[in-house]
Amino acid sequence: MHVKDKVCVVTGAAGGIGEAVARAYAEAGARGVVVADLKTTRERLASVAGDIDGLAVTADVGLEEDIKALVAAAEAKYGPVDIFFSNAGLSRKGQETASDADWDVSWRVHVMSHVFAARALVPGMLARGSGYLLNTASAAGLLASLNSMPYGVTKNAAVALAEHLAIQYGDRGIRVSVLCPQSVQTGMTTPGPSAARVDGVMQPAEVARIVIEAMAEERFLILSHLQVQEYIQRKASNRDRWLAGMRRLRDRIYGAPPAA
Ligand SMILES: NC(=O)c1ccc[n+]([C@@H]2O[C@H](COP(=O)([O-])OP(=O)(O)OC[C@H]3O[C@@H](n4cnc5c(N)ncnc54)[C@H](O)[C@@H]3O)[C@@H](O)[C@H]2O)c1
Repeated sequence: MHVKDKVCVVTGAAGGIGEAVARAYAEAGARGVVVADLKTTRERLASVAGDIDGLAVTADVGLEEDIKALVAAAEAKYGPVDIFFSNAGLSRKGQETASDADWDVSWRVHVMSHVFAARALVPGMLARGSGYLLNTASAAGLLASLNSMPYGVTKNAAVALAEHLAIQYGDRGIRVSVLCPQSVQTGMTTPGPSAARVDGVMQPAEVARIVIEAMAEERFLILSHLQVQEYIQRKASNRDRWLAGMRRLRDRIYGAPPAA
């Protein structure tokens, strides 16, 4: 799908990948771009919307009523939504001992947000025979996140969810893609050791260029770093060997966990 003349919504658009893609949509000639993010980012969000002559809507994507209101605001201003980029995300460190609150927010923002968007948009897209659901997961959703179990597990679920949407609706006019970046320089990039950075850090504008290109080709899996394709193949061909490699990488980057 080409972005020209399309109505686009982007969540997590106050910075990073969301902001870069919102700007790229505007540059590609979108009819309208609606940018959404948390209330706490209101000023940055308004400045992005101002630059691209778009509409800023504050929304917590983990709440279904906020997603409904976001879609309603987009439709009221520009008409039916053609492209919904469900991209908001956050990082919560830790393993199974991470707090229930961290598990819950990771689940809501990385999984339920995409469910809420699909619920709000699929009926209209099916009726029109056209629409694009683009969800951000992560390379961690195809592989693992060595220093954050809530992140890795919920991003794996986000990839599975996109696959289910593509299976259900891919032959009924709804295009589905899942963006799985490796390391990108954004507000989420934290100092200190990082396994994700082994293949280099990409800039958000470069990711946005890749997204526009992949959407034109209607490619399901959108990678930033092409090495990830090889890692997926290694994982699929021998899980035990891949897990042993992940343990070695964990020890090299973060140090071996303390003995019990
Ligand atoms: N930066 C990376 O290296 C990297 C790698 C893989 C995947 N990702 C994913 O890319 C997406 C964008 O992240 P980014 O790297 O641009 O980081 P970012 O922190 O710059 O952007 C994420 C945005 O999501 C917003 N957000 C968080 N919770 C929200 C909520 N409940 N409702 C609405 N907005 C919310 C934040 O306010 C922020 O503006 C995320 O889903 C992230 O997990 C990032």
